[in-house]
Amino acid sequence: MSKAPVIAIDGPSGSGKGTIASRVAKTLGYSLLDSGALYRVLGVACNRKKLDLTDHQAVASLAKDLDIEFGRSGEGSVCLDSIEVSLDIRSDLGSDMASRVGAIGAAREALFERQLAFRQPPGLVADGRDMGTVVFPDAELKIFLTASPEERAKRRYKQLIGKGIDAILPDLLRDLKERDKRDTERVISPLKPAEDAIVIDTTDLSIDQVVNQVLELYRCA
Ligand code: DC
Repeated sequence: MSKAPVIAIDGPSGSGKGTIASRVAKTLGYSLLDSGALYRVLGVACNRKKLDLTDHQAVASLAKDLDIEFGRSGEGSVCLDSIEVSLDIRSDLGSDMASRVGAIGAAREALFERQLAFRQPPGLVADGRDMGTVVFPDAELKIFLTASPEERAKRRYKQLIGKGIDAILPDLLRDLKERDKRDTERVISPLKPAEDAIVIDTTDLSIDQVVNQVLELYRCA
C-alpha cells in the first residue's frame, strides 16, 4: 500500500507555520502533526521531573514513555499524563525547554517513530524544523517559511498581549534570536530548508495569502 501524502512545513518560531499548517490541514481534511508540541511537552516533562538535561539517556527514556494526547479538550489542546498542559507548553519556559531538548540527539531519535505514526490516510500536514529534511524526506511538498526576526517577535508580542499576558518586545526579540541560533547551529537535525523545499518569506504576507500559495503549490505538485 502506498504511503499517505505529506506536506512538510518547516521554519523558525513566528514564521506562521503553526497557523498555516493547521489551515492547510483543515482545508484538505488531512491530519496535523505539530511536532514542536512534542518537543514542548518533553521540555515541560523534564522540567517537572527536574531532569538534568546533560543526562541525555534519561531525557530520551522520558521521551519514549511520554503519555501525550492531542485534542482531548478542543483544537490545539495537549495533555501530558491526562493533565492539560496546553498553556504550560506555550509559555516562555516551555519554548526555552523545547529548544534545549530539541538539541539532544537521543531525544530526537526517541520522538522519531511517534512522528511517523501521524502519517495516515487521507494525508498529513506536518509542521516543525526537520519535517522535510529528516522525518518525512519523501514528502510530496516541502515548504520552508521565513520572516524577519523583528516581524516574528512582533507577532509573538501581539499574541501574548491578546491573551492578556505581559510582554516586552525587545526581550522577546532577544529570546527569539537566541533560540534561532540554538536551532540552526545544533549538529543534529538543524533548522534549515530541505534542498527541494520551496522557501516563502511571510514578512509582508497575510495568513490567507500564504495558505492559498501552499494549496496552489500542492495542487501543482
Ligand atoms: O515549532 P515550535 O516553536 O513549537 O518549536 C519549539 C521548539 O521545539 C523549537 O525551538 C525547536 C524544537 N523543535 C525541534 O527541534 N524540531 C521540531 N521538528 C520541532 C520543534
